[in-house]
Amino acid sequence: MDKLAVLTSGGDAPGMNAAVRSVVRTALYWGKEIYGIYRGYAGLLEDDMISMNSSSVSGIVLHGGTMLKTARCKAFFEEENQKKAAQILRKRGIGGLIVIGGDGSIQGAEKLSRLGIPTVTLPGTIDNDMHGTDETIGHDTAVNAVVSAVSRIRDTASAHNRAAIIEVMGRFAGNIALDAGLASGAEYILVPEVPFSREKLARSLKLQMEAGRTNSIIICAEGADDGRALSEWLTERTDIDICTTILGFIQRGGQPTARDGILGSTLGAAAVKALLEGETGALAGMHRGEVRIISYEEAKKEKEPFKQKLYELSVMLGAAQSSGDIR
Ligand code: F6P
Repeated sequence: MDKLAVLTSGGDAPGMNAAVRSVVRTALYWGKEIYGIYRGYAGLLEDDMISMNSSSVSGIVLHGGTMLKTARCKAFFEEENQKKAAQILRKRGIGGLIVIGGDGSIQGAEKLSRLGIPTVTLPGTIDNDMHGTDETIGHDTAVNAVVSAVSRIRDTASAHNRAAIIEVMGRFAGNIALDAGLASGAEYILVPEVPFSREKLARSLKLQMEAGRTNSIIICAEGADDGRALSEWLTERTDIDICTTILGFIQRGGQPTARDGILGSTLGAAAVKALLEGETGALAGMHRGEVRIISYEEAKKEKEPFKQKLYELSVMLGAAQSSGDIR
């Protein structure tokens, strides 16, 4: 395998650039030619790629986003387009592809592997919702962005004796909400994995305020409830003053934390090594602090990545202290 290619796909995540840099420089270190494909699978279908050298990835490691650009490419779900992509790679003599992205991106890589193009995927998403890895590139940075926002919002909520609803990203997963909520001492953490009752939340909030709390932080994962709708609902039923913030894309950009930079660098090199050693159809992820190469099939069999024990801890340290559980 003399030529490899790398692409980033799906939502960007801080640390993707560190991963691209690591892939490119590891491939060059082993004497391979390496291509960077622009805009994920969309760019691949248009044969939009460049040959990269060491300086192509200079100065990117501390930047969020991805220098290769990214896209969500619906067209790639069609078999005809998957075959076209495999053909484009073969024509260029590219013997292996590294994909950096989330679950949707793995699906594309899996299809290409089945069509005879060796692929290894790196988990890149702020959501930390992928099977087969304990961590995903970008999650730590997103969590830190939320923690810093909570600290600011707590100041103003406290000044006004308000409760604050803070809606965070995560799509169908509650990991950003849980990790950031625990780290910032949120009183309530609403996640899609654990159903909650709006009525119980209203009651619990009232009890807290009556007991003398001046403010409460409610971190609401976007998959658990709609922050604004919840705020309106609570306002109609209680006399609690509520301020609501939808954090949005501020969670996805920005300089990666050291942890994400290290993760991207580590997994990038591991993915190249795995491809060169003949792996295909595999995820290069983290398991109990170690790099693990696991087949897409095996990864899918692993249980949901939601950390139930951490959730229980957050309840014990938060709402359960004064006004009980809201489940
Ligand atoms: O998967 C990352 C993520 O930021 C989710 O948390 C969020 O639901 C989604 O992407 C937003 O996607 P888009 O950038 O396509 O609007």
